[in-house]
Amino acid sequence: MADRALIAVCAGCCCGHPESGGPKTPPRTLKPAIRRRMKGAQLDGLARVAFTDCLGPCSEANVVFLFIDGEPVWLRRMNTEPLYDAFFAWLRAALTNGARPSLPPELAKRSFTWTGGGRGPSPPIAP
Ligand code: FES
Repeated sequence: MADRALIAVCAGCCCGHPESGGPKTPPRTLKPAIRRRMKGAQLDGLARVAFTDCLGPCSEANVVFLFIDGEPVWLRRMNTEPLYDAFFAWLRAALTNGARPSLPPELAKRSFTWTGGGRGPSPPIAP
């Protein structure tokens, strides 16, 4: 059975680099922090995480694109580790409960629209 969700975490020219773009996580912390949370969420067989080159909306760094059950979810300014705690808790609930819960407020306010759809404003978005 195929995974139901693909998480594309941008690690391109502006995302994840403290010297460019918006406020960022400390250097070299983003990938390990996400991998730890992915493992902890026990989503093997349900979701896959990949670190990608530039996804396009650099003005919104750090960008995460989630494709879940055929729906695009774009998130901007995913700059701190607690945001990934919220993300993986929500994703686990979305993939293991019968109905998908709404995004928690800290993620809902980071939701935006880009290639393929999504919810929220289109970049560039005022900070
Ligand atoms: S580098 Fe992340 S969107 Fe461009």
